[in-house]
Amino acid sequence: ATKYTAFPPIALHDRQWPSQQITKPPVWLSTDLRDGNQALFEPMSVETKIRFFTRLVDIGFKEVEVGFPSASQTDFHFVRRLIDEKRIPDDVTPMVITQAREDLIARTVESVRGAKRAIVHLYNATAPVWRKVVFNMEVPQVMQLIQDRVAYLKKLTDAAPETEWVLQYSPETFSATELDVALQACNTAIEAWNARPGRPVIINLPTTVENATPNVFADQIEWMHRHLNQREHVVLSVHPHNDRGTGVAAAELAQMAGAQRVEGCLFGNGERCGNVDIVTLALNLYTQGVHPRLDFSDINAVAREVEEFTQIATHPRHPYAGDLVFTAFSGSHQDAIKKGFAAQKADAIWEVPYLPIDPADLGRTYDSVIRVNSQSGKGGVAYLLEKDHGVVLPRRMQVEFSAVVQRHAEAADAEVSSEEIWKLFKNTYLRA
Ligand code: KIV
Ligand code: ZN
Repeated sequence: ATKYTAFPPIALHDRQWPSQQITKPPVWLSTDLRDGNQALFEPMSVETKIRFFTRLVDIGFKEVEVGFPSASQTDFHFVRRLIDEKRIPDDVTPMVITQAREDLIARTVESVRGAKRAIVHLYNATAPVWRKVVFNMEVPQVMQLIQDRVAYLKKLTDAAPETEWVLQYSPETFSATELDVALQACNTAIEAWNARPGRPVIINLPTTVENATPNVFADQIEWMHRHLNQREHVVLSVHPHNDRGTGVAAAELAQMAGAQRVEGCLFGNGERCGNVDIVTLALNLYTQGVHPRLDFSDINAVAREVEEFTQIATHPRHPYAGDLVFTAFSGSHQDAIKKGFAAQKADAIWEVPYLPIDPADLGRTYDSVIRVNSQSGKGGVAYLLEKDHGVVLPRRMQVEFSAVVQRHAEAADAEVSSEEIWKLFKNTYLRA
């Protein structure tokens, strides 16, 4: 059973106000091997990608964007190896991305030929600045491009019925695109693909560059959710980046607004400030009692391996995964945590103050850094005496003895070490 914390939003307990909750995990897509990879100083080798892919599958991803095979020979080779060496489990679908050009689409389809199921991810930028400055295209030309290229992809894939083909269409720069234009682009793709049962389409709405508060993105998603054609045959996906530091919030609000699928990277790797961090999203769900269907029960092993693959260190304060996130520095926190652990019953709701999740669920342990100085309370002193010297002080003595330690710290104008505390203790109580 999934634990959840005793301090989720109060609405979860008694619904005093109608806050929305996410009640089931989205379909996750890892783009570590594509968006994540393209943002590395040194893109991953085929061997590293194979190891990373295997790890993603072990974690539980059922959809993995494996690369950009028309743009990179390494990626083409990697995808072919996955398929030819039968490394893709039957319940996992690879996704390959392509720009909307016929030669690139053809090469992309070649890369996944023979897969049981494959998603071809076609994208083009739709925002006004890109139309004007980058492509010099008017809106009708953009729509024609989408219509033609999706039809071309359909023709190629119809001729290869041994694979179950799924179209993913992304209006790149969606969040900076007029909503009616974005809708027209997506509906054009849906119609050109002839979406219907057994022939689904994924409409993936990226922020590309995060440009507004997350509620604005959620409003955009909700509007698309209400207006898309063939909605029942469409999987509505989001692809938040993190330029304003609100990628996680954007993904969470977007799910409440109708998104069914989330694309991101482990630990928020990806272009610029990263793609949305799937570890944080998944474990945020976990703390609310919703099993994310991704396994982070040995988060340290995942973090160390991803660091090796990407050569990027995990920040020590990264939610759930950073080296310091289960370390308490403050004496009052330490005291509360100690009491929480003593009161916590196995398999009950997690009720240890200051720890948003049981570290053991992630294969981790709680650490306390005890710094005793003139400002510290009795908790740190008592803890060090017990941990390092096996002395359990009764409560009244804790108050009395911590005053002794505080006076000492004040006089020395410095921190007091565990050894000094022990000496003071012996001088105060154990002198013959
Ligand atoms: O961020 C983005 O817009 C992308 C698209 C190609 C989906 O990565
Ligand atoms: Zn992206």
